[in-house]
Amino acid sequence: MICVATTAGAAAEVTQFAIIVDSHRKVKMTIGSKSLVPDIAIIDPVLLSTKDARLTANTGIDALTHAIEAYVSVAATPITDINALKAIKMITTSLRASVASRTNIEAKTQMAMASLLAGVAMSNAILGAVHAMAHPLGGLLNLPHGEVNSILLPHVMRYNMIACMDRYADIARALGEDTTGMSTREAAERAVQAVEQLCQDIGAKKRLSEIGLQEEYILELSKAAAEDVCLITNPRDATVEEIAEIYRTAL
Ligand SMILES: [Fe+2]
Repeated sequence: MICVATTAGAAAEVTQFAIIVDSHRKVKMTIGSKSLVPDIAIIDPVLLSTKDARLTANTGIDALTHAIEAYVSVAATPITDINALKAIKMITTSLRASVASRTNIEAKTQMAMASLLAGVAMSNAILGAVHAMAHPLGGLLNLPHGEVNSILLPHVMRYNMIACMDRYADIARALGEDTTGMSTREAAERAVQAVEQLCQDIGAKKRLSEIGLQEEYILELSKAAAEDVCLITNPRDATVEEIAEIYRTAL
Protein backbone atom coordinates (compact mmCIF):
# COMPACT_ATOMS: atom_id res chain seq x y z
CA MET A 1 0.00 0.00 0.00
CA ILE A 2 1.42 3.36 -1.08
CA CYS A 3 -0.16 6.53 0.36
CA VAL A 4 0.41 10.08 -0.86
CA ALA A 5 -0.26 12.86 1.66
CA THR A 6 -2.45 15.58 0.14
CA THR A 7 -2.85 17.64 3.33
CA ALA A 8 -0.58 18.45 6.27
CA GLY A 9 -2.90 17.12 8.95
CA ALA A 10 -4.59 13.75 8.69
CA ALA A 11 -1.33 11.77 8.46
CA ALA A 12 -3.18 8.72 7.11
CA GLU A 13 0.01 7.98 5.17
CA VAL A 14 1.74 6.83 8.37
CA THR A 15 -1.01 5.84 10.80
CA GLN A 16 -3.03 2.75 11.59
CA PHE A 17 -6.30 4.71 11.36
CA ALA A 18 -8.93 5.31 8.74
CA ILE A 19 -12.18 7.22 9.13
CA ILE A 20 -15.33 5.97 7.48
CA VAL A 21 -18.47 8.08 7.16
CA ASP A 22 -21.97 6.60 7.14
CA SER A 23 -23.81 9.49 5.49
CA HIS A 24 -27.18 7.79 6.01
CA ARG A 25 -26.80 7.54 9.79
CA LYS A 26 -24.64 10.72 9.82
CA VAL A 27 -21.82 9.12 11.84
CA LYS A 28 -18.05 9.09 11.40
CA MET A 29 -16.40 5.92 12.66
CA THR A 30 -12.75 5.17 13.39
CA ILE A 31 -11.15 1.99 12.09
CA GLY A 32 -7.81 1.07 13.66
CA SER A 33 -5.58 -1.78 12.50
CA LYS A 34 -1.87 -2.30 11.93
CA SER A 35 -2.84 -3.60 8.49
CA LEU A 36 -3.83 -0.01 7.59
CA VAL A 37 -0.25 1.26 8.08
CA PRO A 38 1.01 1.95 4.52
CA ASP A 39 4.19 0.30 3.25
CA ILE A 40 5.34 3.50 1.59
CA ALA A 41 4.44 7.14 2.36
CA ILE A 42 5.06 9.82 -0.25
CA ILE A 43 5.30 13.36 1.13
CA ASP A 44 5.52 16.15 -1.44
CA PRO A 45 4.99 19.64 0.06
CA VAL A 46 4.31 21.09 -3.39
CA LEU A 47 0.93 19.30 -3.29
CA LEU A 48 0.05 21.45 -0.27
CA SER A 49 0.32 24.61 -2.37
CA THR A 50 -2.98 23.64 -4.04
CA LYS A 51 -4.91 24.04 -0.76
CA ASP A 52 -6.65 27.25 0.26
CA ALA A 53 -6.00 29.04 3.55
CA ARG A 54 -9.02 27.56 5.32
CA LEU A 55 -8.13 23.96 4.52
CA THR A 56 -4.48 24.62 5.42
CA ALA A 57 -5.59 26.06 8.78
CA ASN A 58 -8.07 23.27 9.56
CA THR A 59 -5.68 20.46 8.69
CA GLY A 60 -2.80 22.14 10.51
CA ILE A 61 -4.82 22.34 13.72
CA ASP A 62 -5.71 18.67 13.24
CA ALA A 63 -1.99 17.86 13.21
CA LEU A 64 -1.47 19.99 16.34
CA THR A 65 -4.34 18.17 18.04
CA HIS A 66 -2.78 14.81 17.14
CA ALA A 67 0.52 15.87 18.72
CA ILE A 68 -1.05 17.32 21.90
CA GLU A 69 -3.44 14.39 22.42
CA ALA A 70 -0.62 11.89 21.83
CA TYR A 71 1.65 13.72 24.30
CA VAL A 72 -0.91 13.61 27.13
CA SER A 73 -2.26 10.13 26.19
CA VAL A 74 -2.13 7.40 28.82
CA ALA A 75 -0.40 5.29 26.14
CA ALA A 76 2.40 7.83 25.51
CA THR A 77 5.96 6.50 25.52
CA PRO A 78 9.36 8.25 25.28
CA ILE A 79 9.33 7.43 21.54
CA THR A 80 5.93 9.03 20.89
CA ASP A 81 6.87 11.97 23.16
CA ILE A 82 9.86 12.92 21.00
CA ASN A 83 7.73 12.94 17.85
CA ALA A 84 4.83 14.78 19.48
CA LEU A 85 6.93 17.59 20.97
CA LYS A 86 8.92 18.07 17.77
CA ALA A 87 5.65 18.26 15.80
CA ILE A 88 4.26 20.90 18.19
CA LYS A 89 7.44 23.00 17.81
CA MET A 90 7.35 22.80 14.00
CA ILE A 91 3.64 23.64 13.82
CA THR A 92 4.19 26.62 16.14
CA THR A 93 6.84 28.08 13.85
CA SER A 94 5.34 27.24 10.45
CA LEU A 95 1.52 26.97 10.51
CA ARG A 96 0.83 30.72 10.47
CA ALA A 97 3.16 31.22 7.48
CA SER A 98 1.74 28.20 5.67
CA VAL A 99 -1.81 29.56 6.07
CA ALA A 100 -0.68 33.02 4.97
CA SER A 101 0.82 31.96 1.62
CA ARG A 102 0.15 29.20 -0.90
CA THR A 103 3.67 29.56 -2.29
CA ASN A 104 5.70 29.41 0.95
CA ILE A 105 7.16 25.97 0.24
CA GLU A 106 9.53 26.21 3.23
CA ALA A 107 6.56 26.56 5.61
CA LYS A 108 4.68 23.77 3.79
CA THR A 109 7.69 21.48 4.00
CA GLN A 110 7.83 22.07 7.76
CA MET A 111 4.09 21.44 8.10
CA ALA A 112 4.26 18.26 5.99
CA MET A 113 6.97 16.85 8.24
CA ALA A 114 5.21 18.04 11.42
CA SER A 115 2.02 16.29 10.31
CA LEU A 116 3.96 13.08 9.68
CA LEU A 117 5.67 13.24 13.10
CA ALA A 118 2.35 13.94 14.84
CA GLY A 119 0.89 11.00 12.91
CA VAL A 120 3.63 8.64 14.07
CA ALA A 121 3.02 9.83 17.65
CA MET A 122 -0.75 9.41 17.55
CA SER A 123 -0.75 6.13 15.64
CA ASN A 124 1.15 4.66 18.59
CA ALA A 125 -0.05 6.69 21.60
CA ILE A 126 -3.59 7.05 20.16
CA LEU A 127 -5.67 10.17 20.83
CA GLY A 128 -8.10 11.59 23.37
CA ALA A 129 -11.32 13.44 24.10
CA VAL A 130 -10.95 16.05 21.33
CA HIS A 131 -11.11 13.35 18.69
CA ALA A 132 -13.72 11.32 20.59
CA MET A 133 -15.94 14.43 20.63
CA ALA A 134 -15.07 15.64 17.12
CA HIS A 135 -15.99 12.39 15.35
CA PRO A 136 -19.74 12.32 16.18
CA LEU A 137 -20.03 16.10 15.80
CA GLY A 138 -18.31 16.10 12.40
CA GLY A 139 -20.55 13.25 11.29
CA LEU A 140 -23.77 14.83 12.51
CA LEU A 141 -23.22 18.24 10.94
CA ASN A 142 -20.89 17.17 8.09
CA LEU A 143 -18.15 19.53 9.24
CA PRO A 144 -14.41 19.70 8.45
CA HIS A 145 -12.58 17.64 11.11
CA GLY A 146 -9.92 20.27 11.86
CA GLU A 147 -12.49 23.03 12.27
CA VAL A 148 -14.25 21.04 14.99
CA ASN A 149 -10.91 20.19 16.65
CA SER A 150 -9.78 23.81 16.78
CA ILE A 151 -12.88 24.79 18.78
CA LEU A 152 -12.80 21.78 21.12
CA LEU A 153 -9.03 21.61 21.76
CA PRO A 154 -8.65 24.44 24.34
CA HIS A 155 -11.73 23.27 26.25
CA VAL A 156 -10.54 19.67 26.43
CA MET A 157 -7.06 20.86 27.47
CA ARG A 158 -8.64 22.74 30.41
CA TYR A 159 -10.71 19.68 31.35
CA ASN A 160 -7.70 17.34 31.14
CA MET A 161 -5.25 19.65 32.88
CA ILE A 162 -5.53 18.20 36.40
CA ALA A 163 -4.56 14.77 35.05
CA CYS A 164 -1.10 15.80 33.84
CA MET A 165 -0.24 19.44 34.52
CA ASP A 166 3.46 18.87 34.00
CA ARG A 167 2.80 17.51 30.50
CA TYR A 168 0.81 20.62 29.59
CA ALA A 169 3.69 22.75 30.91
CA ASP A 170 5.99 20.88 28.49
CA ILE A 171 3.49 21.62 25.71
CA ALA A 172 3.58 25.36 26.56
CA ARG A 173 7.35 25.36 26.09
CA ALA A 174 7.04 23.43 22.81
CA LEU A 175 4.53 26.09 21.72
CA GLY A 176 7.32 28.65 22.16
CA GLU A 177 6.14 30.11 25.48
CA ASP A 178 8.71 31.31 28.02
CA THR A 179 7.66 29.64 31.27
CA THR A 180 10.64 30.78 33.33
CA GLY A 181 9.54 31.59 36.89
CA MET A 182 6.06 30.14 36.39
CA SER A 183 4.46 27.45 38.51
CA THR A 184 3.55 24.22 36.72
CA ARG A 185 -0.11 25.26 36.77
CA GLU A 186 0.66 28.70 35.30
CA ALA A 187 2.76 27.10 32.55
CA ALA A 188 0.01 24.56 31.80
CA GLU A 189 -2.57 27.34 31.50
CA ARG A 190 -0.16 29.20 29.21
CA ALA A 191 -0.32 26.20 26.84
CA VAL A 192 -4.08 26.64 26.49
CA GLN A 193 -3.69 30.38 25.86
CA ALA A 194 -1.01 29.74 23.22
CA VAL A 195 -3.29 27.29 21.39
CA GLU A 196 -6.14 29.84 21.51
CA GLN A 197 -3.83 32.52 20.12
CA LEU A 198 -2.67 30.26 17.28
CA CYS A 199 -6.27 29.35 16.39
CA GLN A 200 -7.22 33.04 16.42
CA ASP A 201 -4.26 34.02 14.22
CA ILE A 202 -5.22 31.54 11.52
CA GLY A 203 -8.89 32.55 11.56
CA ALA A 204 -10.43 29.54 13.31
CA LYS A 205 -13.96 29.82 14.63
CA LYS A 206 -14.35 29.96 18.42
CA ARG A 207 -17.78 28.55 19.25
CA LEU A 208 -19.59 25.36 18.27
CA SER A 209 -22.77 27.42 17.80
CA GLU A 210 -20.98 29.22 14.91
CA ILE A 211 -20.69 25.91 13.05
CA GLY A 212 -24.29 24.88 13.63
CA LEU A 213 -24.38 22.94 16.90
CA GLN A 214 -27.56 23.29 18.93
CA GLU A 215 -28.07 22.33 22.58
CA GLU A 216 -30.64 19.66 21.66
CA TYR A 217 -27.95 17.50 19.98
CA ILE A 218 -25.50 17.52 22.92
CA LEU A 219 -26.77 14.51 24.87
CA GLU A 220 -26.82 12.27 21.78
CA LEU A 221 -23.32 13.46 20.77
CA SER A 222 -21.98 12.93 24.29
CA LYS A 223 -23.21 9.32 24.36
CA ALA A 224 -21.48 8.69 21.00
CA ALA A 225 -18.25 10.37 22.18
CA ALA A 226 -18.23 8.23 25.34
CA GLU A 227 -18.26 5.15 23.07
CA ASP A 228 -15.50 6.42 20.72
CA VAL A 229 -12.27 4.41 20.85
CA CYS A 230 -10.20 7.60 21.20
CA LEU A 231 -11.58 8.24 24.69
CA ILE A 232 -9.81 5.18 26.07
CA THR A 233 -6.41 6.93 26.03
CA ASN A 234 -7.64 10.32 27.26
CA PRO A 235 -5.66 11.25 30.42
CA ARG A 236 -8.80 12.12 32.42
CA ASP A 237 -11.85 9.86 32.64
CA ALA A 238 -15.00 11.44 31.27
CA THR A 239 -18.63 10.43 31.82
CA VAL A 240 -21.40 11.22 29.35
CA GLU A 241 -22.42 14.16 31.56
CA GLU A 242 -18.85 15.49 31.78
CA ILE A 243 -18.49 15.27 28.00
CA ALA A 244 -21.81 17.11 27.63
CA GLU A 245 -20.47 19.84 29.90
CA ILE A 246 -17.39 20.29 27.67
CA TYR A 247 -19.65 20.59 24.59
CA ARG A 248 -21.75 23.18 26.44
CA THR A 249 -18.66 25.15 27.47
CA ALA A 250 -17.60 25.26 23.82
CA LEU A 251 -21.11 26.09 22.54
FE1 LIG B 1 -7.50 14.19 13.56
